[in-house]
Amino acid sequence: MDQFENILLEKMDGNIYCLTINRPKVLNALNQQTLMEMDAALQQVADDSSARVLLVTGSGEKAFVAGADISQMQNLTPLQAKKFGETALAVFRRFETLDVPVIALVNGFALGGGCELALSCDFILASENAKLGQPEVCLGVTPGFGGSQRLPRIVGRAMAMEMLVTGRMVDANEALQRGLVNHVYPQAELLEQGLKLAAKICNNGPVAVKLTKELVQRGQDLDLENACAMESDLFGLSFACDEQSEGMQAFLEKRQANF
Ligand code: HXC
Repeated sequence: MDQFENILLEKMDGNIYCLTINRPKVLNALNQQTLMEMDAALQQVADDSSARVLLVTGSGEKAFVAGADISQMQNLTPLQAKKFGETALAVFRRFETLDVPVIALVNGFALGGGCELALSCDFILASENAKLGQPEVCLGVTPGFGGSQRLPRIVGRAMAMEMLVTGRMVDANEALQRGLVNHVYPQAELLEQGLKLAAKICNNGPVAVKLTKELVQRGQDLDLENACAMESDLFGLSFACDEQSEGMQAFLEKRQANF
């Protein structure tokens, strides 16, 4: 898996994948090529039926991703800018529709497109030095990679509006208080903690985990009645899998399930 220039994709123990945005000289800014490589990497993970969790992080100790690449965006025409935004939106959507949980390990600045990337992951672990923000208005543009829509859904409209119209960065502790990130760790422990969490997920029934992600992702855009009806369907479907009999049998026999 060394065909990429701007990212690294590694398959680790326990069928856990780690995707690292690897342009540390520009704080892992996202240019067109990086987005295309991320898309190809996501396809590889999607094609691997043994994949259980995807971790996403940035190279170096300073940044997760400091945004879309401003030097590449500077001279775009309106139509090119629209297309650039649409490309990233499609790639980010793939994190949400990937069948396994995706955890962002935000190891520093997550700004603009970087914050939007983290928001597209299922949840976020942050290092103590993390700073998240949507500073697009400081550059005279709106968010373009989904931030104006995903941020209010996660932190609520008022907090999202404040972040979006001031461009203020929030530090890891404030992000934790606001429910933007799940946990904060010293930077040196972030990957280890991410792997620990991934390993916990891997102890569970893999199909049940995938169906649960699908319920949460698809359900949030449905009304409650239809969303709950979908839950009944997938709950029923989970009884068609061997892991349901093994999971329940193991409980009754007071042993660890072997999924
Ligand atoms: C291109 C970037 C970059 C970016 C940093 N760099 N962010 N290059 N695009 N988004 C480059 C710098 O130019 C510099 O290159 C090197 O990375 C190190 O950055 P410094 O600024 O020297 O570091 P520091 O002083 O520590 O400041 C860190 C920072 C700052 C606060 C994160 O770099 C910053 O404000 N970056 C931009 C953040 C931002 O506005 N992001 C949103 C982008 S818009 P040299 O060559 O000088 O070493 C966006 C919109 C998405 O994401 C939607 C579009 C459709």
